[in-house]
Amino acid sequence: MEENKEISLQDLSDDEVPAFLDLRPKKFSDYIGQKQIVETLQIAVEAAKKRNEVLDHVLFYGPPGLGKTTMAHIISNELGVPLVHTSGPALEKGGDLVSILTHMEHGSVFFIDEIHRLPKIVEEFLYSAMEDFAVDIIFDKGMNARSYRAKLNQFTLVGATTRAGLLSPPLRERFGIQRSLDFYSVEELQQVIIRSASILNVSIDYDAALEIARRSRGTPRIANQLLRRVRDFAQVRADGSITKKVSDDALALEGIDARGLNLLDVRFLNVIIEFYKGGPVGLEAIAATLQEETDTLIDMVEPYLLKAGLLTRTSSGRKVTEQAYKHFKKTVQKAKGRQMPLPE
Ligand code: ADE
Repeated sequence: MEENKEISLQDLSDDEVPAFLDLRPKKFSDYIGQKQIVETLQIAVEAAKKRNEVLDHVLFYGPPGLGKTTMAHIISNELGVPLVHTSGPALEKGGDLVSILTHMEHGSVFFIDEIHRLPKIVEEFLYSAMEDFAVDIIFDKGMNARSYRAKLNQFTLVGATTRAGLLSPPLRERFGIQRSLDFYSVEELQQVIIRSASILNVSIDYDAALEIARRSRGTPRIANQLLRRVRDFAQVRADGSITKKVSDDALALEGIDARGLNLLDVRFLNVIIEFYKGGPVGLEAIAATLQEETDTLIDMVEPYLLKAGLLTRTSSGRKVTEQAYKHFKKTVQKAKGRQMPLPE
């Protein structure tokens, strides 16, 4: 990198930032949180290396931003093998998958993000690829159809999904290692923020890091995004250091809620409170009122609200909790008569 060359990090996602400022850990030893997952993976990786074998296929599931992609990269770094990255929707035809698989080096990590969105036809090629490291290629059609079994180099498939329930059982069963990533504690996020601040070379007080952590929705990706915004504010409106006051002022200006709830979280909870008297109400009714896809609500909104104790799921639908009323300084309204939630 040339000296004096200015780069703007403002609009870059974590995937695009220059390598020297990438905040994601590259080794298990740098990873904060998900202790049990890190430890068991470390053992599996070390054992595979000792035996000179290819690591078993790994499936990560959990809400967005919790480190599924980071884990895949760490596995390939720790194994010392290349990583080939793709996603379920990018693989449209069996041929797309076959051409990647036939070019893969022995032992590589093949990372498929959003693996639940893999077309069925592509998924069927994966079964034999995962189990026997071979794919059956069919030439011609009808009477002239001939099949040819192509041997592949051995590889480790790392799949990531927000919805393990949407994977077909034959695919899910082929992953020898399956791990669910959970939201991070505030203390873990505080450590992530302190580590990131040191990489970004910005000074930060412990209580400032704690405040950013509290508003990060249990998610390291959000913690790092907020840290970058607070760092901007510190450099423009203060002396560059992140104090508690600087972080409070910066987060207030960004419109970040005291618990870190985003606009969609707030709309979701308020629709239940205002339109459905706190619930229970079916998800389809909430989605229709919000004009959002139910999948978006299931993947991006509900997991954190459930974890944070602001929402419950009952057999008759979604209900907000008393904590949610308190958070919005609203009084609990008792529903008159029975409500008929939409079927789920
Ligand atoms: N940056 C993003 N996620 C992280 C994690 N889990 N540990 C350390 N740094 C991170």
